[in-house]
Amino acid sequence: MNPFLYSIPTKVYFGENQLGHLGPELARFGQRVLLTYGGGSIKATGLYDRVVAEIRKAGLVLFELPGIEPNPRVTSVRQGAELCKREKIDVLLAVGGGSTIDCTKFIGAGAFYDGDPWDLSTGAAKIAQCLPIVTVLTLSATGSEMDSGGVITNLETREKLGNGHPVMVPKVSFLDPTNTYTVSAYQTACGAADILSHTLEVYCNTEPDLELLDGFMEHLVRTVVQFAPVAQREPTNYEARANLMWASSWAINGFVVGGRRQAWSCHPIEHEVSAIYDITHGLGLAILTPRWMEYCLDARTAPRLARFARNVFGVDPALDPSVAAREGIRRLSAFYFETLGLKSSFTALGIDRTHFAHMARKACEGGTIHGFQPLDQKAVETIFEMCL
Ligand code: NZQ
Ligand code: ZN
Repeated sequence: MNPFLYSIPTKVYFGENQLGHLGPELARFGQRVLLTYGGGSIKATGLYDRVVAEIRKAGLVLFELPGIEPNPRVTSVRQGAELCKREKIDVLLAVGGGSTIDCTKFIGAGAFYDGDPWDLSTGAAKIAQCLPIVTVLTLSATGSEMDSGGVITNLETREKLGNGHPVMVPKVSFLDPTNTYTVSAYQTACGAADILSHTLEVYCNTEPDLELLDGFMEHLVRTVVQFAPVAQREPTNYEARANLMWASSWAINGFVVGGRRQAWSCHPIEHEVSAIYDITHGLGLAILTPRWMEYCLDARTAPRLARFARNVFGVDPALDPSVAAREGIRRLSAFYFETLGLKSSFTALGIDRTHFAHMARKACEGGTIHGFQPLDQKAVETIFEMCL
């Protein structure tokens, strides 16, 4: 086990009827609150009214930034950072999914930066400070409610870049599974694929086993495999929504890493696809992940994939590792494309070879991703071909 730092400073209010704590929690950070949200789902569900009522009850001054897009744009970050500076905002309240929360993180950092906030995504400027962030999560997927990262899209440069800093970790997150009852079957499936990918990016590793964390990750995957279809069939099933919500946070809050050296592979690749085609992140991951596993499968990686197959999908332990590994990948594909009903190929999304070379080069930043298998541009292009 390598040395590591474990620090998850987000205070979580989990479950129903916790919103009464929102006003006092916001007030800890100041009086002037900027409420950020997406395209209107929180108004349709009534959550907006409940949140605003709590803010008013606490006597806080409310400002709003609506309209944050899925795959949030740098234009919204710029607008929000400006607003924070102009109105001397004390605390940010993000109500929504990962896009709203990610955008809010860069707004919070942008409030302390004099230049273009896009510099904070590209790394041209260092993230140093961030306004305190409180979140009310409405979609179980990204884990942004309990991590330090965010991903921003620049349509002009056709880039989608992830960056992060511990100062961006939300101070408080309200995780009420009932706020996800209205998430569509499609977004539920994409969210499940995202949670699985966060887990598999870490799990697919050839460093010596960390049994505690390997078992945890296998159970996390089993939990998502069990409950995502239930949530699709019965959107108001509390147990299903609650399990997905807590899985979302724990897949990416740092716990599962346990000092493993890791280089995520499917995520940088998917971000290039959604930068060009603006597809839903989880859908891109569902299409890429089984192909990436298949590409990575060799004598060195087979034992790990075979363990995954056995412990997650109950594949026969007597099978040869490479046979078991293939069967595990087949069952994962069946979960994404048959059980959850996601589209199974780039072709089905209208994506062809046009940008493969460009996307592959950018995904590995002109070099190599040193993940489960080393991936250079040619390797990523091969994986893209497998996705057609
Ligand atoms: O915009 P509104 O109207 O709110 O509608 C959203 C949006 O259309 C809707 N939605 C959210 N909650 C709902 C709901 N509809 C009905 N009822 C509800 N309760 O769902 C749509 C998608 O929302 P979005 O926030 O875009 O989804 P998600 O949470 O999957 O976030 C995706 C973004 O997060 C990034 C992705 O790249 C993508 O840009 N990621 C962030 C990460 C992080 N911070 O650590 C890691 C991830 O790997 C990921 O890259
Ligand atoms: Zn993700």
